[in-house]
Amino acid sequence: MTTTMKPLQVGLLGFGTVGGGTWRVLRRNQEEIRRRAGRGIEIVAVSRRDLAAAREQIGDAARVVADPFEIVRDPAIAIVVETIGGTTLARELVLEAIRHGKHVVTANKALLAVHGTEVFAAAGERGVMIAFEAAVAGGVPIIKALREGLSANRIEWIAGIINGTTNFILSEMRAKGLDFGAVLKQAQALGYAEADPTFDIEGIDAAHKATIMSAIAFGVPMQFDRAHVEGIAALQAADIRYAEQLGYRIKLLGITKRRDDIAGGGIELRVHPTLVPRERLIANVEGAMNAVVVHGDAVGTTLYYGRGAGAEPTASAVVADLVDVTRLHTADPDHRVPHLAFQPGALAATRMLDIAEVVTSFYLRLRVADQAGVLARITGILAEHDISIDAVLQRESAEGERQTDLIILTHDTVEGRMNAALAQMQALPTVLAPIVRIRKEELS
Ligand code: HSE
Repeated sequence: MTTTMKPLQVGLLGFGTVGGGTWRVLRRNQEEIRRRAGRGIEIVAVSRRDLAAAREQIGDAARVVADPFEIVRDPAIAIVVETIGGTTLARELVLEAIRHGKHVVTANKALLAVHGTEVFAAAGERGVMIAFEAAVAGGVPIIKALREGLSANRIEWIAGIINGTTNFILSEMRAKGLDFGAVLKQAQALGYAEADPTFDIEGIDAAHKATIMSAIAFGVPMQFDRAHVEGIAALQAADIRYAEQLGYRIKLLGITKRRDDIAGGGIELRVHPTLVPRERLIANVEGAMNAVVVHGDAVGTTLYYGRGAGAEPTASAVVADLVDVTRLHTADPDHRVPHLAFQPGALAATRMLDIAEVVTSFYLRLRVADQAGVLARITGILAEHDISIDAVLQRESAEGERQTDLIILTHDTVEGRMNAALAQMQALPTVLAPIVRIRKEELS
């Protein structure tokens, strides 16, 4: 044991939810953490704009500074924990910390998904570690699982509920039969959704996390700009209800898949509302919880579940990274776990596929005139495009009503082909409203 070594000194950038949680967990469990890490880990400096507020919580247990650059340039500090968020100041601080030879622990998914290549290259050159367990699914150790626990496998696909806010909203929409707008207001009142929930509800936050998982699973660079992203704002209560009648739940999933049927190989990377069979465990993940399903060729399907946000669940991941970095601090940089699971020189240039090349099955809802031949015409168009139908549900029209909802589930097809069929169906005079199209995944 080397527990007599001096504690490793940490600088904490930001003292909000994640920073405050990290401070508390590290102090509360410091003895266990020291026994695990082999030496103490001590936050010696904290940066926060509101100095008085930080001092109130920290007292004189650590130095409190207003300028975060003071911390990233402090020669006594070995590890910088970045909890500021965003991609501008955080990027500058992380790069400056690396230049000063510091390891970085961050929960910043946007920074890594967008600037990961630059950050990892800088860290590689300087021989420092970037640890980011908290960036995906908060307290759920999915990065550790993908990077180390599953390293024997050829990963085939990953599908995750990786945004708690939207999962909470979808759960409430289903349970109460409410539309998106009503539930969003309620979620904001309860503090589940941010005042500006754009990143969450538009799927951007989930896409950042899916981008990170995709890079680690397949050994490719971070390519957030290649992700197809759709949020949940357009979802209607009627579709959640029809999906339920057909045995499905609608979840906002982050999906990344290896496609060996494409010449030279391909990778799908997408976030969108998805019908999932109700009997899958992931379909039953409710409220603000996160869950990620990973399919590897050797292990089969594995599931990781837990809290994806909140002060202490996120701190759980940040502090675990601190322990990892402390253990490996003195190791030869070439013998550490590579940032993206694959050695930096062994990353692949596999093509990220366009959404038109993606293969899924579909849920379609068509508002149609209730008259002879309408169903035949629509199924005819699907047949012309070689799209096979799995199930059809026609809502009984109320008496005197001359239009009805036609719900169709298809088998797998290439999205481009579905787009062509949809354009043709939409042009029929008997199709009375924009067709609703939601992708469906069996996850079997
Ligand atoms: N806002 C995210 C969520 C947590 O709702 O899951 C941080 O990424």
